[in-house]
Amino acid sequence: MGYKIKGSCLVVFVAAMAYLYRDTFDPASLADARVLVTGASTGIGAEIAYHYARAGAQLVLTARRENVLMQVRSKCLELGAKSVSLVVADMGSSEARERVVEKAISDMGGLDYLVLNHIGSTLFQMWDGDVNHTRWLMEVNFLSYIHLATKSLPHLTESRGSIIVLSSLTGKIATPYTTSYGASKFALEGFFGSLQHELAMKRIPVSITLCILGLIDTQSAMEKVKDKISMPAYPANDAALAVVSAGTSRVQEMYYPWYVRPLCFIRDWFPQGRAWLMQKSYQ
Ligand SMILES: NC(=O)c1ccc[n+]([C@@H]2O[C@H](COP(=O)([O-])OP(=O)(O)OC[C@H]3O[C@@H](n4cnc5c(N)ncnc54)[C@H](OP(=O)(O)O)[C@@H]3O)[C@@H](O)[C@H]2O)c1
Repeated sequence: MGYKIKGSCLVVFVAAMAYLYRDTFDPASLADARVLVTGASTGIGAEIAYHYARAGAQLVLTARRENVLMQVRSKCLELGAKSVSLVVADMGSSEARERVVEKAISDMGGLDYLVLNHIGSTLFQMWDGDVNHTRWLMEVNFLSYIHLATKSLPHLTESRGSIIVLSSLTGKIATPYTTSYGASKFALEGFFGSLQHELAMKRIPVSITLCILGLIDTQSAMEKVKDKISMPAYPANDAALAVVSAGTSRVQEMYYPWYVRPLCFIRDWFPQGRAWLMQKSYQ
């Protein structure tokens, strides 16, 4: 093939990719949207709440620490949220999960976006054999997501709404020091990936967006990986905007930052090389 034809193919390919992945996010479409954000007291969850607030959404925020949630609520109201309610709840409790969805429906009169973001605290370390901790983490990081999504589904069906699930590169590619956390993220991928198919097959108009994030500079993540891995962390504010934007565009999967998609794409190409590189970047 001549250079001209190859060059033309490349230009068409790049143009097609640019069109497919163009940013179609319009914050105005979120004015008055009814949004429930879990794990909203700190980190990416708080930043997600601020982006919805700027767009003029109605919010219900939940986490365990009321004093920290109150600070997030004040900032959301300053930024332009229509209303902000708080629910103090521990996602390890089935009763608390029921209460969170009921409060969201009663305060906002329905639900357009369910953002599943919270995670239970876990150490970034080698497997220590603590099966009880893994069981608890699966309850908080995985089963509570299913419970909240199931309870919200009739309301989201009515509003043609969306479920946004925060996952991780560690839920796509196994990494050291993340045995139980990684298992909970892989489980999310399996459950919500299957549910995506079933909703489409039943023509239920609810979108599910799985957000696959690399290392983000939240305080909790930075404290965990300090002195253990050497890779750049990306800003929580940008990650949160990518999450909100992907949910609004109803895409099935979102990758942030830029390197996560190609890594997932080539995951199974060079298994030995991948394992070597992975272990070398850990101390
Ligand atoms: N940061 C990263 O590098 C990174 C990378 C990939 C994916 N992610 C994903 O992004 C999401 C947010 O991560 P993050 O770094 O922002 O986390 P974070 O800063 O540790 O925040 C976790 C949130 O969950 C809440 N929470 C903790 N235990 C809870 C429980 N038992 N019940 C209810 N709420 C609980 C915390 O608030 P309270 O303590 O007040 O309850 C807090 O609001 C997670 O799903 C994580 O897996 C993060």
